[in-house]
Amino acid sequence: MKPTGKVLLDLIGISKSYLRGKVSVPVLDNISLHVREGEFVTLIGPSGSGKSTLFRLIGGVERPDSGHVIIDGTEVTGKRGLISYMPQQAALFPWLSVADNISSTLVTAGTAKKEAKEQALKWLHRIHLGGVANEYPHVLSGGMQQRVSFLRALLMRRDVMCLDEPFAALDALTRADMQRWLLELWETDRRSVLFVTHSIEEALMLSDRIYVLSSAPATILREIVVPFDRPRRADVWTEPAFVELKREVLNLLEKGDTTLV
Ligand SMILES: Nc1ncnc2c1ncn2[C@@H]1O[C@H](COP(=O)(O)OP(=O)(O)O)[C@@H](O)[C@H]1O
Ligand SMILES: [Mg+2]
Repeated sequence: MKPTGKVLLDLIGISKSYLRGKVSVPVLDNISLHVREGEFVTLIGPSGSGKSTLFRLIGGVERPDSGHVIIDGTEVTGKRGLISYMPQQAALFPWLSVADNISSTLVTAGTAKKEAKEQALKWLHRIHLGGVANEYPHVLSGGMQQRVSFLRALLMRRDVMCLDEPFAALDALTRADMQRWLLELWETDRRSVLFVTHSIEEALMLSDRIYVLSSAPATILREIVVPFDRPRRADVWTEPAFVELKREVLNLLEKGDTTLV
């Protein structure tokens, strides 16, 4: 998908509260944001600021108290099945082989069984996991499981991919590896991505734009356009502009985190 400037995902004035006992606790306060076609957008915010809640609202699993979710120009608030979603922990079917985990996604998306098998193997080779096609998920490392999980989200072929802290549970080296891997794959097939992280480096490394969220009730503190060229160099973090932006986001997060005041 080429970046066209067309807005694919549009959130308008989303607010959400939860009841804690009899008290209504606001979690999201008037969140408006958008993702354009072929754009990689990241939400960064402190833990508990409502990022996963926002994903549940986009995915239609829950409804906002007010506001609208619009995908490709159509209001879809409360409708399910329109985005592909990748959770923090890989959610693979433990009773299916790695290849079948992939092909079952393709079958669900409408591909014939035999064709799905062939495509699954091709994809696994392409992401250097051809050697474990017939293994079961539990024998894979955390990083490998997340690659398979990402591939499944990719192959669902929805307009928007929502990735909720997909690398948070991985060790630092595996995480850096995964970031490079994801960038490479994404840069050859530019899907529209909404990515959640609380790592500033990860956000700057991967994204075209970043929304910085405050602590709950989350508001958008700032929208940052990330200026680094694509394909992005692996050592982009050494650039002075990177260090400067990192400091800016850190300041924002510290100021916006009311729990620190
Ligand atoms: N179903 C729910 N019922 C009540 N409170 C919830 C529910 N889901 C989330 N929350 C609360 O909403 C806040 C935001 O949670 P979450 O969206 O998971 O944050 P994040 O993903 O940014 O860490 C937390 O305080 C959490 O306890
Ligand atoms: Mg979360």
